[in-house]
Amino acid sequence: MAKHYDVAIIGAGAAGMMCAATAAQRGKRVLLVDHAAKLAEKIRISGGGRCNFTNINAGPQNFLSENPHFCRSALSRYTAQDFLALVKKHRIAYHEKHRGQLFCDDSSEQIIAMLKAECDAGGVQWRMPCKVAAVTKNAEGFRIDTDGEPILASNVVVATGGLSIPKIGATDLGYRIAKHFDLKIVETRPGLVPLTFDGPSWQPFVPLAGIALEVDVTTRSKKGKNAKYGYFREDLLFTHRGLSGPAILQISSYWQPGTPIVLNLLPEMDVAEELIGMKTTVKKQLGNILSQWLPTRLAEGLLTGNGLTPDARLPDMADAKLRKLGDAINRWAIVPTGSEGYKKAEVTLGGVDTRELSQQTMMANTVPGLYFIGETVDVTGWLGGYNFQWAWASGVAAGSAI
Ligand code: FDA
Repeated sequence: MAKHYDVAIIGAGAAGMMCAATAAQRGKRVLLVDHAAKLAEKIRISGGGRCNFTNINAGPQNFLSENPHFCRSALSRYTAQDFLALVKKHRIAYHEKHRGQLFCDDSSEQIIAMLKAECDAGGVQWRMPCKVAAVTKNAEGFRIDTDGEPILASNVVVATGGLSIPKIGATDLGYRIAKHFDLKIVETRPGLVPLTFDGPSWQPFVPLAGIALEVDVTTRSKKGKNAKYGYFREDLLFTHRGLSGPAILQISSYWQPGTPIVLNLLPEMDVAEELIGMKTTVKKQLGNILSQWLPTRLAEGLLTGNGLTPDARLPDMADAKLRKLGDAINRWAIVPTGSEGYKKAEVTLGGVDTRELSQQTMMANTVPGLYFIGETVDVTGWLGGYNFQWAWASGVAAGSAI
């Protein structure tokens, strides 16, 4: 006879372990199920191996969703400070890197060990590796069919994450379970991902691979109710296939195929005004002037890309040409051809439609006992520790409610 649990959690990643520890420490009989052989691989590789485990400024404004207010409740009930208190309790040394981003001093393994210890403290049981075939519900509760013995539980929490990085075990199981129970899915797509450019218009920029600089980047997608506007000041990196770096990863979550992103390569300066103002006093070549403000290879690329030669002298330039050059630097609008896709994306946008879930408990409105947490849900954070904060907060919300 299969053992009956109060709650079976499918997916032993960030959200699943947090939910398991919370429910188990409240006295629930909890089983964590995962098909991976190695625990929490995404936490392990996160933050370059040091896990950017939260952001002290995390709030609803840092998340994308078709239903932007949904995340408010969970985030306000389990904050970055709450997670930090747990990190301190486990004596994990950490530091703030950039704009509220907190990283382990040593290794992301410490966060995995901390979550495992919290699960052990509540007596969580494990089934790993274990393949899940189907989840069904009858009058007695839920039944999870697996490649081994079936699992019976009064509640099921789906914490299988998104589609990013399939080679470390990402699957669409969470969405399939949602569909099986007739829950809507917001269309998924890769987020926090490098953008690619091809065709002849990108050729002049290919040799710039490796150049990095701080920029402003914006994009405005669609019109009307679903319009999304993104703006970030972050570092941009030219790559062989296009653009990357934090600025691009951030804006990629707002970008819609077919629309441009707009880069300001010198956000602190109106380049056209500056050059026109210098014309009577500065006799230098344009290449030399721009190289004071931008990496030399980029300055030269921008000049040739705009039909100018680096050795053209500033006083000889017509104002109209300087204004065109200024536009190319301060308002460079380019349409990406695509993105590097799920194999490089840090997150998956979209997912289980939050209008199907309770914002207090994460339980499906029409399926009592069935919960969805973490990245499987249509709540996606910016780069910088926000996605883990959502995993912790949504995990605690469900774990406290079951
Ligand atoms: P998560 O992916 O952590 O866990 C899902 C679990 O479900 C996995 O253990 C998986 O094996 C299991 N699973 C999937 N399908 C299954 C199936 N069919 N059967 C059984 N089990 C199944 N965020 C952040 O805030 N700071 C950071 O530093 C980083 N860095 C980072 C780097 C890289 C390279 C990536 C790809 C992502 C990040 N992220 C991040 C994002 C962050 O890792 C992500 O948002 C969270 O891990 C999501 O937590 P979840 O628990 O929802 O899914």
